Amino acid sequence: MAHCLRAHCGSAMADGEFSEHLRESLAAAEKLSGIANERELKHIAALQSWLAGEFKKSVDFLESILIDHPRDVLALQIAHLSDFYLGDAHNLRDRVARVLPRYDEDTPGYGYALGMYAFGLEECNEYSRAEQVGHQALEINRKDVWALHAVAHVLEMQGRQLEGIDLYESRTDDWVPDNGFAVHNWWHLALYYLDLQDYDKVFQIYDDMISGGSVALENLDASALLWRLYLLGVDVEDRWSALADKWSESIPHAGYYCFNDCHAMMAFVADGRNQQAETMLGKLEASAHGDNYSAWMTRSVGLPVARAVNAYAQERYAEAAEALASVRYTANLFGGSHAQRDLISQTLIESAIRSGQHKFARALLAERTAKKDTSPQTWLNTARVLDALQCREESERASSRAENLLNRARTSHWQCTNWWLPRERGIPAGTS
Ligand SMILES: [Fe+2]
Repeated sequence: MAHCLRAHCGSAMADGEFSEHLRESLAAAEKLSGIANERELKHIAALQSWLAGEFKKSVDFLESILIDHPRDVLALQIAHLSDFYLGDAHNLRDRVARVLPRYDEDTPGYGYALGMYAFGLEECNEYSRAEQVGHQALEINRKDVWALHAVAHVLEMQGRQLEGIDLYESRTDDWVPDNGFAVHNWWHLALYYLDLQDYDKVFQIYDDMISGGSVALENLDASALLWRLYLLGVDVEDRWSALADKWSESIPHAGYYCFNDCHAMMAFVADGRNQQAETMLGKLEASAHGDNYSAWMTRSVGLPVARAVNAYAQERYAEAAEALASVRYTANLFGGSHAQRDLISQTLIESAIRSGQHKFARALLAERTAKKDTSPQTWLNTARVLDALQCREESERASSRAENLLNRARTSHWQCTNWWLPRERGIPAGTS
C-alpha cells in the first residue's frame, strides 16, 4: 500500500510529467501483488488503468473498494480528485455521500470527507448546503484547504466577491504556508479582485503568488488568470512569455490530460508562438485518435477548445464562437470546476462580440446575469453590447448597475478590510 500511496500521489497530479514516478511505484506494488489482498489488488488495478489513460475505469476500481471499505480514505480522496479531473459533478457529491454515514466525528478523516462533500455539493449547484458543510469541516480543521476552497467556490458562483476576499485574507495562516494547493486558492482570491476591476491587486497576486508555479496544476491557474485579462484587453506585459516558456517543457506530455493542454495553448497563442501552438494541436489531434478515455475527452472537448483558443488569438472570432458554443454544455467532460470552465463562456461571449454577433452576445449575457447578477464585469459587457445594438437607455442602465456594484465594493472594501500582501512569495501575512 505504501507503493500504491506513492503512485496515487503521481496520478493525483493529472500531469504526464509524473508518469515515470507513477510507473516506478506501480511496478514496485505489482511485484508484491502475490501477497496483496483483494483491496490492495484493486488499488493496483486503479493505478494501472489511470496510467493507461483509462481514467473512468480507474475510478470504477476505487468505487468498488469504497463499497466494501467506505473508510478507505485514500480510495475516497483519489476517487474525489479523479471525479474533479473528469468533471463528474454528480460523483463529486454522491461518491462522498455514499460513504459518509460510515463516518462520525471520531473517525479519522471525517472532517476531510466533509470538505470533499462540500465541494461536491457546490459543483452540483447546492450552494447553501455546500457553504454550511464547508464551514462544518473548517470548524473541525481550520487548515482544511479543500473545505476552504469549497466555500470560496460558493462565493465565486454567487458573486459575493467581498466575502470571498475576506474569507481568504482573514486567515492566510491557514491555507498558505507549505501547501501545494495554495496557488489555486490565490487564483480564486485574484478572481474576486478581477471582477471588481482591481487589476493592481490581480497583478500583485499573480506576480507574488501564482507566477512561480512549477507544475501543470499551478501553471494552468496562471494561464487561466492571464487569459481572463487578455479577454478584457488588459496589458499583461511580458508575463505570457515567461509562462509560455514553462509550458513549452510540457509539450512532450501533451495528450495525457487535455485540460492542461488547453491552458498551455492559451500561453502559446497569446505569446504569438504559432509553431508551438501548431505542435500542441498536432499532439492533441493524434491523441484524439486513441481509444482510451483520455482520447475521448480530447476528441469531445479538448481539441475543439484548443482550436477555438487558437482561432480567437488569430482574430477568427466567428470560428471561435461557433466551436465554443458547440461544446459549452458538455465541456465538463474534460474536467475542472464550473469556475475554471467559465473561461469557455467568457471566451465565447468575447468572440461573439468581436465577430459582430451582438444579439447572440446579449442572449449569453442575459443567461449570465440570471445566474449571477452581482458581477460588474458582466454588466459592463452588457452595456457594451446594448450600446452596439443602439439600445442606449438599456445600455446606460447596465452601465450604472456596474458602477453601483463597483462603488459599493470599493466603499465596503476600504471600510472593512486591511489589505496587505507580503512581497516575498510564499510567506503569509503575520508570520515570520
Ligand atoms: Fe477551484
